[in-house]
Amino acid sequence: MVVPSLTKAFLWSNALLSLASALTLPSPNDLITTKKFELTVTWEKGAPDGVERDLFKVNGQFPGPVLELTEGDSVEINVKNRSPFNTTIHYHAWDISEKSHIDLLCFDSILVNGKGKVDCLASTQQAPLVTRPQQQLLSRINGSTLTDKSCLPPNVLATLANAGDAKPDPSVIPREIFNGCKATNAPLDVIKVVKSKNCEEDKWIMLDLIATFSMIEAQVSLDEIPLTIIAADGNYIEPKTAQSIPLAAGQRYTVIAKLEKPKKYTLRVSATSDPQILFGSSIIDFQVEAQEQSLEPSVAYINERGVNTTSGVVVFSPAQGKSFPPAVIPQVVDATYKVVMKQAGALDRWAFNSTPRPESTGTRVAMLD
Ligand SMILES: *[C@@H]1O[C@H](CO)[C@@H](O)[C@H](O)[C@H]1NC(C)=O
Ligand SMILES: *[C@@H]1O[C@H](CO)[C@@H](O)[C@H](O)[C@H]1NC(C)=O
Ligand SMILES: *[C@@H]1O[C@H](CO)[C@@H](O)[C@H](O)[C@H]1NC(C)=O
Repeated sequence: MVVPSLTKAFLWSNALLSLASALTLPSPNDLITTKKFELTVTWEKGAPDGVERDLFKVNGQFPGPVLELTEGDSVEINVKNRSPFNTTIHYHAWDISEKSHIDLLCFDSILVNGKGKVDCLASTQQAPLVTRPQQQLLSRINGSTLTDKSCLPPNVLATLANAGDAKPDPSVIPREIFNGCKATNAPLDVIKVVKSKNCEEDKWIMLDLIATFSMIEAQVSLDEIPLTIIAADGNYIEPKTAQSIPLAAGQRYTVIAKLEKPKKYTLRVSATSDPQILFGSSIIDFQVEAQEQSLEPSVAYINERGVNTTSGVVVFSPAQGKSFPPAVIPQVVDATYKVVMKQAGALDRWAFNSTPRPESTGTRVAMLD
């Protein structure tokens, strides 16, 4: 992931979910090989959610290409920086965040496979979706409401600073980061699945759900269709069926689903994290040859906050994900260390046993020029 400084682009205003259909999982016997990738980084116009902006593309595409690897592979990546900026791959620069001491937790859209649209909610639409934690945060400043991008306003986020942290300064944050929602109607990603007339077998799809977003957590659900989770982070698990799956930054689940009634089914991705009401979707367009496709809209299992719409919705619990075949746990313990991990004042700073990593990437020179 290539992230420019926020003073140059609001690329990071997009949260991304990547969804690859029909990916094969590596078998344990796959040969260990050296895989080579050539990546060219460019700075171009793009409008993945309908708002044109400057963004980094990798090999001419946004999001960049999937680099498929098997655990244990050797990897050789050659990066050509054809952008006008000195750039570091996987370098997160947060100029405004650093100056304001406020995490810029306001995004424009959630994209699925690089596509999505900007939705703007009127305050009457926001009201029923405001969660209790959000209400409590808003009540820290009398009279505050969500912005028109459905974000907690910067002055409310500023109240989250711990005593001893640098003093938050909402005034250095450009207004348009949290306000000025402009709805778009950009096309959603559509995965077309066709069952042939003479196919008497059941029709199944397999999806890889990859959370390439960083600062949100989300629930993912396919309307009307239960998902059977068969792998977590590339490792098989005992299959579990659920209607809604929680997805945190970097997580990957492989799911399979049986399609029966020809219809367009909405795949929903709804952020559950507090700072913002944010949701996105894509379409599984299921057609059966010689059968009419239902025009009824598909019925959602979850709402825009990832909350179940009926009591029958089973939410996958990651703790149920037992590895298959069972992972062998060593029976003899050599040493036990207790480590507590927490966030240290900012979402991109982590601490082990209360000791933040003493490193800041903010002053490091970009590696590629
Ligand atoms: C990129 O880095 C080089 C070497 O550090 C420097 O001379 C140059 O001015 C930088 N270019 C930009 C656009 O920042
Ligand atoms: C908030 O503002 C209202 C109206 O101005 C006032 O009546 C109320 O006492 C205030 N509450 C707090 C906690 O400041
Ligand atoms: C969501 O699920 C819970 C647990 O099954 C249930 O108590 C609740 O009523 C459901 N919500 C709705 C809106 O049906």
